[in-house]
Amino acid sequence: MKSETFDIGLGNNDSKTRAEASSDYVMFWEKQAKKLHWFEPWQIPLEWNAPFSRWFVGGKTNASYNALDVQNKEKTAILWEGENGDRRTVSYGQLLSQTKRLANALKSLGIQKGDRVTIYLPMVPELITSILACARIGAIHTVIFSGFSAASIRDRVFDSKSKIIITADGGYRRGNTVKLKEIVDTAIQDLDFVKNVIVLKRADIKITMNKKDLHWGDAVENSPDSCDAERLESSHPLFILYTSGTTGKPKGVLHDTGGYLTHISATFRWAFDIKDSDVYYCTADIGWVTGHSYVAYGPLICGATQVMYEGAPDYPGPARLWEIIQRYKVTILYTTPTALRMFMKFGDSIPNSFDLSSLRLLGTVGEPINPEVWKWYYTTIGKRRCPIIDTWWQTETGGMMISPLPGLETIPLKPGSGSFPIPGVDVAVVDDAGAEVKPNTRGFLIIRKPWPGMLLTLWGDDAKYKEVYWSRYPGFYYTGDYAIRDGDGYLWLLGRADDVLKVAGHRIGTAELESSLVSHHSISEAAVCGVADEIKGEAIIAFLVPKEGVAVTDVLKQEVIEQVRIQIGPIATPQQIYFVSRLPKTRSGKIMRRLLKAMARNEKIGDVSTLEDGAAVSEIQTAFDELKKQLG
Ligand code: WTA
Repeated sequence: MKSETFDIGLGNNDSKTRAEASSDYVMFWEKQAKKLHWFEPWQIPLEWNAPFSRWFVGGKTNASYNALDVQNKEKTAILWEGENGDRRTVSYGQLLSQTKRLANALKSLGIQKGDRVTIYLPMVPELITSILACARIGAIHTVIFSGFSAASIRDRVFDSKSKIIITADGGYRRGNTVKLKEIVDTAIQDLDFVKNVIVLKRADIKITMNKKDLHWGDAVENSPDSCDAERLESSHPLFILYTSGTTGKPKGVLHDTGGYLTHISATFRWAFDIKDSDVYYCTADIGWVTGHSYVAYGPLICGATQVMYEGAPDYPGPARLWEIIQRYKVTILYTTPTALRMFMKFGDSIPNSFDLSSLRLLGTVGEPINPEVWKWYYTTIGKRRCPIIDTWWQTETGGMMISPLPGLETIPLKPGSGSFPIPGVDVAVVDDAGAEVKPNTRGFLIIRKPWPGMLLTLWGDDAKYKEVYWSRYPGFYYTGDYAIRDGDGYLWLLGRADDVLKVAGHRIGTAELESSLVSHHSISEAAVCGVADEIKGEAIIAFLVPKEGVAVTDVLKQEVIEQVRIQIGPIATPQQIYFVSRLPKTRSGKIMRRLLKAMARNEKIGDVSTLEDGAAVSEIQTAFDELKKQLG
């Protein structure tokens, strides 16, 4: 692949780290782990009982201790801004004291090591306090993005059997108040194992308090602020984070403590070149993995000061993000290609009217970045001074796996390429049979050795864990992504090769969407695919077969869309719905997704000889043609 290169570095050139990693990756990760605080040292650095890994076996540590107790208590941890303009500054000392109080409150409500606690909060400092309070006592937190619906919460709480839910009365989003407590009430109506709901006052709206409910203020203020951090086994589970896959409902990705912290702290330092004076700002919500690893844990473990913002970065207008950067003199910005595409569309004059000269490093995550958007970020936002790191990773990998690392080394940057794997991580691009493909050829990305941020398993489902990640290429981890390695060894991450969509950077499974669509009483079959979207990267298109005798109307369309919003959440809203009389299927009755995808991507359809009904293809093709006309 031909590409311009940009020689921007921060003057770091540490070749020793890569050399150490390639000579012995286990010893290398041990060296990184030693930078954390351990109550007791480990005996075995890696127990690899494929495909299950346990890092730093015998070692005892605690995530909350590493994030808070070892830091400078006077230093500002969080510069918080609410969507409505509220502002707060929280020091490491204040965060520690609140965390200890909440940890004591959880203990007094009966939460013990290993119990699950669900957190459904807006982006407020108390979300970080909640996470760290769980970590402090060894409870496993499971954070749910505050845009998910009651039905989605119910599924996740049911699966994790959380005893406590921490939520707020409401949260602000684009000027609206989302009634979080009310949504939780609906979600847990029939879940008797949920013993308590702790409710933070955020939006000051009227709520009904039930028998199970306690006010955050009462629970926290009435608890003592001394609470030793539990000495936890390195492989003690830190959190479950639900994410969509190719089949069924979202699965609980389970992460450990010691391996995860090692991965996150090392990558945070290498990627962001973090210094004591930096003001770091990651726009991700903590409900997603980027927010777990690079808002909640990474910056705190490295003692950084960060900006935390509650609402949409373009609310009340497209200047908000740049205003925040100017106000807090942000030095490092980490955001998504979707956000950048949106801001780029608003034009240069908006960012140009703010002082962005504090910026020194820029990052992106979550989806492929178009080279022209990369260049805009580099030129208009970074003024050609700031390196851009395009970081590739997944909920399952815990932290960054492929990225330029300006804190470690200076390399020429290629717009749209994630460059190289991080030290100690071994990836390959392979064909169907598992053989490495030639340079500049598209293949599947696999990971060949365990890494410390690797998921432990899927919560309660080891069999699924083995099947999803380890069965396609036995012995190797299958990422589900397409990639190309160019002649210079640079990796280009091309997005999902499976039935997972990335809509505005959010992961959504087609199977999950289809089962929601067919659960409507008028729909008999559904097939979903993604089409290229100028801003969101991908948009959801659904083909629906109505039941016999059902009249196809706009009302039906709206009903079906509403159903998806209620069952999954607004992020899963289909952009277009087409009613068709049948779906293209193979003779064995399976929907030909390959065909839908190919048509959506304008690719050659290929062999359709196994198709049961050719007419179905032309019907779908007509729908796509119509769509393309509409999109221009
Ligand atoms: C995609 C997000 C291209 C990829 C951290 C992966 C990317 C999925 C990049 C994981 C990138 C993430 N370039 N694609 N820099 N980063 N992806 O679990 O398809 O929400 O498999 O984790 O996002 O999404 P997840």
